[in-house]
Amino acid sequence: MRDLVEPQRENAGGRDPRETLEPMLDDLVRGLGYDKAVVLVYDEPSASLRGLFGWNVTDDQARRLAVGVAGSDNPLVVALRTGAPQRVEPGDGVTLDANTGATLADMGIGGFVAAPLRSASGRSDGPRAVVLLSRKGGVGDVDLERLVPFARQASAALTREQDVQVLRRASESHAVEKEWLWWMVNSVADPVLVTDAQNDILHLNRRAEHLFRSSDEESAGKRRAVWMNNFLFTAALSAWNLDTASRATNREVTLVDPVEGTELIYEVITMPALNHRIGERGVVSVLKDVTDIRHMTEELARSAERIQTADLQIRAERDRLDLVLRSVPNPIIVVDNDNQIITLNAAAQHLFSPTRDSGRHDQIAFANDARFTSFLSQLRLEPSTTKRGEVMLTDPETEEHLEMEVTAADVPGPHGSIVATVSAMQDVGRLRELERRRLEQVLFDTEKLAATGRLAASIAHEINNPLEAVQNSLYLLSRAVPEGSPQRSFLDIATRETQRMSRILRQMLGFYRPTTSMGPTDVNALVLEAETLVAKRLREHAVRIEKELLPTLPLIHASADQLKQVLLNLFLNAAEAMPTGGRLIVATQTGGGEMDASSPDLVRIDVRDTGAGMSEETIARIFEPFFSTKMEKGTGLGLWVSHGVVQAHGGTLKVRSRPGQGTTFTITLPVAGPPVDAEQ
Ligand SMILES: Nc1ncnc2c1ncn2[C@@H]1O[C@H](COP(=O)(O)OP(=O)(O)O)[C@@H](O)[C@H]1O
Ligand SMILES: [Mg+2]
Repeated sequence: MRDLVEPQRENAGGRDPRETLEPMLDDLVRGLGYDKAVVLVYDEPSASLRGLFGWNVTDDQARRLAVGVAGSDNPLVVALRTGAPQRVEPGDGVTLDANTGATLADMGIGGFVAAPLRSASGRSDGPRAVVLLSRKGGVGDVDLERLVPFARQASAALTREQDVQVLRRASESHAVEKEWLWWMVNSVADPVLVTDAQNDILHLNRRAEHLFRSSDEESAGKRRAVWMNNFLFTAALSAWNLDTASRATNREVTLVDPVEGTELIYEVITMPALNHRIGERGVVSVLKDVTDIRHMTEELARSAERIQTADLQIRAERDRLDLVLRSVPNPIIVVDNDNQIITLNAAAQHLFSPTRDSGRHDQIAFANDARFTSFLSQLRLEPSTTKRGEVMLTDPETEEHLEMEVTAADVPGPHGSIVATVSAMQDVGRLRELERRRLEQVLFDTEKLAATGRLAASIAHEINNPLEAVQNSLYLLSRAVPEGSPQRSFLDIATRETQRMSRILRQMLGFYRPTTSMGPTDVNALVLEAETLVAKRLREHAVRIEKELLPTLPLIHASADQLKQVLLNLFLNAAEAMPTGGRLIVATQTGGGEMDASSPDLVRIDVRDTGAGMSEETIARIFEPFFSTKMEKGTGLGLWVSHGVVQAHGGTLKVRSRPGQGTTFTITLPVAGPPVDAEQ
């Protein structure tokens, strides 16, 4: 604070009355021709007059004088009590107490006058002393008279002296107080300041000085910050209208740290103050730094918000997961490392959770639980993180046996150790049953096809011989009927139709020809041969053939004639599916397809066209004998025969097609030929 500068230590220590009295006594003793004098002072604690010093008397001697005041008729005491000077002459009948008498005698004092030194106004705290004066020639009444003005003068001087003492002591104690105050105010860690009615700063402590005071030597930045702080603080005080607020009020102001340049938020506690001495009003402000608290509060609020959002997201996520889990028809169960269930979906609940009837249903559920737990413990021993195994469970409701394929995945915790295992189950028994039925159906269809084929073949065989006889007869007849005769056209129709019949029969019989003619066959070469045979037809249809033949394709064990027949059928079908032109792409490669693409034991031939494609209903029937969409132009035997041939080679013939999207036939053949027992 401006006026509470650190106090300098003053040289304290009061003057004693001797300094005041000595020169006066000196004048008196010399002036009035006394030769000895003693000053006695009233000592409050011992209630006695005590010699303090003397003139022509040693201090030791003077100090030996001591007169108790209570009830004493010692003229020294009487002088003090009455305020009137007293005179003592040897032999005038006044008896001094033994001590006084002896001491005075020792000093060589006989008669004397005693002049009281008391405050004239009778102040109780005034000086109380007595001066004893003696002369060799003795003292008389005239001495008494002369002493009166001296006593008055000395009393006044002593009173003044005492007042000065009191003042000095008071100011001394003020200085002490001020020093303590200084320490007090500056040991407050918070800025403290006093402002006047105009909100100008009057006093401030060290901490406040840092914010509000700067000197010219300091940097421009710091001075600007200090100026800002003064401005902001004054403005804040004015805005708070402290005149009307009589009580202490709490407010906030944002200042700048002049050194760091950072923002400081202070809560300002103001207290109206009234200086009674000058009758001026002011305000004491204590500034509490709440910057950190405020920032912390803000940060807390932000984190709280973040946590809340995250929480909502997690909830939503959990709900979604829950929904997924619940709507999966397969049983899913999550257990911890001690096989305690963490969660399970409805399907799993059905298997493992007992109802409260504790009957047969619950027994099965418990048995399921026990079986699954021991199964899972076994499964856990597998090294991979995703494990697969099968366990037999029982449906507690229908008591049906369930062949459950279990896929168990370990869930790693945040520190890498496994915290849970998720097991998803699938009733493979049902799947297997479905698969079995499907296979049965395929087998049945194949059997049917084969039976039909055998029947057709035997019919063809039976018809073939008579048909040949018919054809021969027609040939002979045609030579007998001249060209241009009206009968000739009937003959031609008969010839054409018998030719067609024989073509059909050949196709049917070709399929069942024994496969003894099998040998190493170059599929790529077959493709080229077939191409030559259909080249004319392809040109007519404006079909361009593209070949992507694998040069390293292995030779396969097969019947070249039959396979060529198959390729011809596929090429002609493709051409017929593209009446207005298109592309026919033939590709050869090893491997059977996507799944076993790299298998070197298989050869694959793709025949793709950009033609009309087929509907699903058509696809379902194309391998049936006599199925054709080409009216009387088609026999409906091409694909049936082709299918049979490929099967007889131990291979497969598959089709992929969609209306308007073209068609792809894929032949897959084993390099080694058909399995031995499939050969006929
Ligand atoms: N590449 C193809 N594009 C479109 N349809 C085809 C194709 N190949 C075969 N088909 C359909 O399959 C049927 C049966 O073919 P197929 O057994 O060769 O008899 P056909 O060719 O004598 O009709 C055809 O009638 C046709 O509907
Ligand atoms: Mg055909």
